This record gives sequence, structure tokens and C-alpha cells, in this order.
Amino acid sequence: MSEVTTPTARIAVIGTGAIGTAVARRLLEEGHAPTVWNRTRDRTAGLAAAGARPAGSVREAVSSSSLILVTLTDYAAVRECLTLPDMDLSGRTVVGLYTGTPAEARSIASRVTASGGRYLDAGVQTSPDMIGTDTATILYSGSREAFEEHRSLLGLLSRPRFVGEAPEAAALWDLALFGIWYDAHLGLLRALDTVRAAGIDVDDFADTAGTQIGHVIAGVPGTVAEMKEGSYPPGPADLTEHLTVVRHLIDLRKGHSLGDGGLPDVAARIEALIAEGRGGEGLTATVGPAGRASDAPIRVAPRAARRDGET
Ligand SMILES: NC(=O)c1ccc[n+]([C@@H]2O[C@H](COP(=O)([O-])OP(=O)(O)OC[C@H]3O[C@@H](n4cnc5c(N)ncnc54)[C@H](OP(=O)(O)O)[C@@H]3O)[C@@H](O)[C@H]2O)c1
Repeated sequence: MSEVTTPTARIAVIGTGAIGTAVARRLLEEGHAPTVWNRTRDRTAGLAAAGARPAGSVREAVSSSSLILVTLTDYAAVRECLTLPDMDLSGRTVVGLYTGTPAEARSIASRVTASGGRYLDAGVQTSPDMIGTDTATILYSGSREAFEEHRSLLGLLSRPRFVGEAPEAAALWDLALFGIWYDAHLGLLRALDTVRAAGIDVDDFADTAGTQIGHVIAGVPGTVAEMKEGSYPPGPADLTEHLTVVRHLIDLRKGHSLGDGGLPDVAARIEALIAEGRGGEGLTATVGPAGRASDAPIRVAPRAARRDGET
């Protein structure tokens, strides 16, 4: 993160919300003078006072820059800003720092490349206050050439990690990682709510809850090894025993404000495996083997509907 970068790189930050402001401030700290544009103009005032160059329009920001960091709310906003008529992106790299779906990342990548630019999609696995620190991670995918060219500059924002040349790879990683967080955190909330409803002191429960989450963390390497090897030893419990617990949990969670967490689907999957005579295997059998990365194309769900003007 302390790599030397050239302060003469021409950078634009499109969107100066929480992430965009943190990104622009970090660039200013390192001696860059980014061009900044925001829909609500006065949100660039603080950055301008610190040395950034406010642009009057997206087009002006884009035309003054070779590296364009787009930090907007969502894909719809990115699409609106980057698909102005005759927007020339030739020789420019666009980096999309927003949370979106793999299909959206693919769509914006094809728009950028059709306009002559290179595209990097970015999964922001950090909060604005962590931008520029060693614990921040931002995942990138798309043009490897663009990533390598701008690696040291992107390294000012976070540990940059390139996760593949498919433009949608970073969005896929980003959402999958968010999914881990939601599943674990919502699991914690369901458990706290359940014990509280039974009159149990949540403080008493908290330490043990933390230990339980720790078991999931400790199990990551073994689970990945099982997927890679395609062998599913039962570990502390086999599928038949898991099914009993899962059914108890479905019962316990009936009427719960956060629902049952999809456990009926899990039970159905385990029942199917038991019916195949695989009740003695472990839980990893429910998802099956991992293909080798080089063989496995990234699968993106087809779009439900095509909106006017979308490609
Ligand atoms: N904040 C986080 O902790 C965090 C963490 C990881 C990922 N992310 C992702 O990073 C992205 C940016 O998040 P943020 O926290 O910076 O959001 P934010 O503070 O709400 O800022 C959103 C930005 O998008 C602009 N915008 C929204 N709609 C627009 C439109 N139609 N046309 C032009 N500009 C538009 C806003 O402009 P105005 O000022 O005019 O409204 C503002 O600059 C999001 O996709 C978010 O999910 C955020």
C-alpha cells in the first residue's frame, strides 16, 4: 500500500458518496489531484478545497482522465452516467467500484469495451473508513492488462486482488462473500432471538455463540479439501444425524421473524442423499465436488427480464 505511484496519473472519481470521497481523499493524501464529479454538486466542495478538481459534467471528468473510478450506488446509476451519447472511452480504463450482480458487471464491461475502453469490475470488501489501510481488500476482475498497469495506484486504496479475467468474477466473489456474512450473522440473530424468547440471558449465551462461529472458520480448509477431493467424511456427524438436527431447527424456527433460513431445502437435499444410500457421508456431500478452476466456467443466472435499452 505504500508503493510509489506517479502523481501525474490522470484519475477521475465519478460519484463522491461515502466510498468515492474516501477514495478521492486517499488519492489526495498520496499527491494525486483527481478530477471529481458528483450529481449533487456541493458534495465535491470539501474535496475541491483539499486539492481535487471538480468537473462540471461526467463527460468533462471522463475526457480529462485515463483512469476513471466509478463509485456510484448501483448499476443503474453507473449505466446512466457511462452511456451518454458519443461517450469516448478510447484509451481509458474504467473501474466500477459498486456492489452489483455478475450480469450487471458483464453488461457494463461490454458497454465500456464497445466505447473503446478497458473495464475492471471491483468488489469493495471494505468500508469507507478502512480505505487505504492494510486490512482493506478490493477484488478486481476484467482486463488483466489494465489491472497490471494500474496495480500500484489501486494499491493505494486497499490490498488489490485480481480474481479473474471474466468481468463478472469480482461481483461473484463479492456477493458470495457477502453471503457468508449474511448467513453467519443472520444465524447469530436467529439464535439470540430464540434463546431470548425462552428467557435465557443473551450475555450467558454470547461466548458459546462466538465459539460456534469459530468452528465454522476452523472448518474452512477441511471443507475446501473435501470439495476438491470429492470425498465427504462424516466428521462429528453424518447426514442422517444432521437431518435430525435440521428438522429440530425447522421446528424451533417456526413463526420466527427471520424465517427458517432455507433449512427445508437443506433437509430435502439431505433426504435425497440418504435415499441414494449416502446417509453415512458428511455435510459437504450436499454440494458435491469442486471442478478445477480452469475447467469451470463462471455460471451466471440468466436475466429475468430485459429492460429497454439494455444490451
Ligand atoms: N459504504 C460502504 O460501507 C460500502 C461497502 C462496500 C461496498 N459499497 C458499495 O459501494 C457503492 C457506493 O457506496 P457508497 O457508500 O459510496 O454510497 P453513497 O454514499 O450512498 O453514495 C452514492 C453515490 O452515488 C451517486 N448516485 C446515486 N444515483 C445516481 C444517479 N442516478 N446518477 C448519478 N449519481 C448517482 C450519489 O450521488 P448524490 O450525492 O447526488 O446522491 C453518490 O455520489 C455501492 O454500490 C455500495 O453498495 C459500499
